Parts: sequence; structure tokens; C-alpha cells
Amino acid sequence: MIRWSKGEYSFASPWLMLFDNDRGLISFTDPIFGDKYFIKTPQELIGGILVIYCSMCGWLLIRKQRRRLMFFNPFTSDIRELPGSPYLDTYCFSAPPTSSDCMVVGFTTRVEWHVYIHFVGGQPSWRKFRLNICGDLHSFHFATLYRQNLYALYNNGGLGFIDTGNLDYTWVESPCVSAKRNSLMKCDQQLLLVIVGVFGECVEVFKMNDSKEWEKTRSIGRYTIYISRKACLCIEAKTLEMANKIYFPCLHSKNKKVVFYSLETTRYHTSNVEDESFGDFVGTERYLDPHVWIEPSWS
Ligand SMILES: *[C@@H]1O[C@H](CO)[C@@H](O)[C@H](O)[C@H]1NC(C)=O
Repeated sequence: MIRWSKGEYSFASPWLMLFDNDRGLISFTDPIFGDKYFIKTPQELIGGILVIYCSMCGWLLIRKQRRRLMFFNPFTSDIRELPGSPYLDTYCFSAPPTSSDCMVVGFTTRVEWHVYIHFVGGQPSWRKFRLNICGDLHSFHFATLYRQNLYALYNNGGLGFIDTGNLDYTWVESPCVSAKRNSLMKCDQQLLLVIVGVFGECVEVFKMNDSKEWEKTRSIGRYTIYISRKACLCIEAKTLEMANKIYFPCLHSKNKKVVFYSLETTRYHTSNVEDESFGDFVGTERYLDPHVWIEPSWS
């Protein structure tokens, strides 16, 4: 591992970032070239359980055990605490916290169903709205802002949204898609749902269409998806080889390279296309420590 310092690096892809709490290090893996870098974990983040909620433009939204929610940019070491809020299930933010229109949103199923909103450039507090829900809802995941709506997956399957434009906090539900691992993300001008079988044996991508229904798609064109447990990225590929692929936070057990799924071949591969391909996650190692995909950024 190379100690990271600001300089010339390849930014063809987001890096896989891993908090190694035992050693007090944060490591970054470049999935394309396989280079590994590290920095020391800032003192404020050492010790206790760390939860990563969201990743965008080089910023993470994280919470350390018994501390406030905070923004963290590992490339600039900038840490910005947010006002106190209760524990929420899932969060997202609309823009980097350096931007005056950064809005942070969180959902919770504790006691009742609520959505919390904080404007970084505004009052140092959260506004709380009760969601009008009928039915049994016990978890929210992948909060995502898309057009004027705020979406989230609930009970790890169904998709619901709130129309923020009309200040109508009625939760609109769609039927459950499946009970596999689902990830929700914004991609260019579209809302995408990625469903992956528990062992990786199936991968399906759906786009939301104009009638707010999921329509299966076989290609994401020039985009690349990066999956991690709580936060996903979908960005335009910088090289042709990366287009139409889904990267996972897994390494191949033998060659230790990052694993991706090609929507073209419908198989898993590692960075060398000539390497053998495989049909599921057997023979791969998943990251256990807090990890996330991050786009290097200094602003
Ligand atoms: C949206 O997708 C659904 C399900 O695949 C389909 O039945 C419907 O016709 C589509 N609507 C539009 C406007 O494309």
C-alpha cells in the first residue's frame, strides 16, 4: 500500500474505501489498476462503530457511535458535524456540504414514520414531518432524491416516495419487487433499481418509467454502477471498458482483484477481461469493515 498524498493519480473510476479500525487506517483501492493507497484515520473517527450512510462527490455522510451525524471528505480531511437528530434508518443529501443548497434527508420507522430534513445553509436544526402511511413498514433503505420526489426502498423491496414539491408527505407505495438485495440509485436522468440474488446468482436492473413502474433493462449504456451496502453510485464511464458494468465490494479470492458484473456478457469478471468469468459470488471475498465507493474530490 502506498501512502496517499495529493498528486497525480488515475481517476478513471471511484475508489473502494475501507475503514480499517484496528490499524487506524483508511484504504482506497483503484478497481481498474489495482493500486492501493492509505491515509491515517482522523482522530475524531477512531474507536466505536462507524456507519456510512451516503457517498457523493467525495463526501460521505457517516455516524460514529454515540456521536452526531457528520460529513467527511477523506481527501481534504474536512469533517462537518450536523445538528443533533434521533437515530434514522437511511439518509441522503442533495449536493456536497460546501454548496449552499445542500439538503440532508433522513427516514425513520422508530415509534412512527417520519422524514427529517436539514438545510446545511439554513437553521442548525432538523424539520420533522410525519409520513402518512397505512400498513406495516419496518425499515427504510437507500433514500434517493430524484426530480421533485424523495424516494426510498422499504422492507427491502417496495419503493415509496414523497412529493416534496407539493409539501405532500403522503407516502406512495408500489408493490414489493422481491426479497433479494435491492439497491436504489439515481443514474443520469433516471431512477434505477438493481436487484442482486443473495449469492449473486442473478442480477437485474430496472428503470422507472413515466408511469412510475419498473421496467427491466438489459443495458445501462455508457454508465457504470458501484454497489455497496448502504450507498451506491452510478456515473458515466470514463473508459469504454468500464461501461455497462456493475462493480461490487468483493475481491476474487485468488487474484485479489475487484469483481464486476458485465451486463453484456451477463457474467462476473475481474479487472482482466481475459481472466476466467464466473456466475455467482462463490470464490469471492466480501468486505466486512465499513466500506463505500467514493469519487476522489477536493471541493
Ligand atoms: C412502464 O412499465 C410497465 C411495466 O413494465 C409497462 O406495463 C408500461 O406500459 C410502461 N409505461 C410506459 C409509459 O412506458
